[in-house]
Amino acid sequence: MRRAVCPGSFDPIHKGHIEVIARAAGLFDEVIVAVSTNYAKNYRFTLNERLEMAKTTFSALSGIVVEPMGEGLLSEYCHARGVSAIVKGLRSSSDFDYELPMATMNRQLSGVETVFLPGDSRYLHLSSTLIKEVHTLGGDVADFVPRAVLRRLQGDVGPDTRPVPIVPPRR
Ligand code: PNS
Repeated sequence: MRRAVCPGSFDPIHKGHIEVIARAAGLFDEVIVAVSTNYAKNYRFTLNERLEMAKTTFSALSGIVVEPMGEGLLSEYCHARGVSAIVKGLRSSSDFDYELPMATMNRQLSGVETVFLPGDSRYLHLSSTLIKEVHTLGGDVADFVPRAVLRRLQGDVGPDTRPVPIVPPRR
């Protein structure tokens, strides 16, 4: 089985992410959307909330699973999960400049390749940070995020601060 991972904070997931992940699912047997935790970062949404928004978004699509990535190295996660490729979307040359050293490091650490997919032109301007800012200042972000995210941004769903279960490695 050819398994790929799309790692990220997904705080929150938006249509740029979704479009790239859906295309990745056409290239691999299984795509894991791995939701990361970095305790140096201040997230708008808890890990459970970020997982729930991504799970709801992909619930109707086969071949895409969503799970927490944990705090460790992505290369070790790939090894533990039997992942042969990391898939990243590129919006710009600065994305490439940021991603290239990580792709090289991950390949040297574990042999895992990184596959870059060019972002769709409709979504090149999107980032989770920009979406949160626009929404916080009263702008309409409904065109940029899935329904599950819009509901959380609008406060239609209560906060989820439960601890996240450990996911055992799969092969
Ligand atoms: O959405 P983000 O915050 O840009 O995602 C970043 C992520 C999770 C892809 C990156 O921080 C990562 O790979 N973290 C895992 C830690 C790691 O392996 N660091 C070394 C990278 S070479």
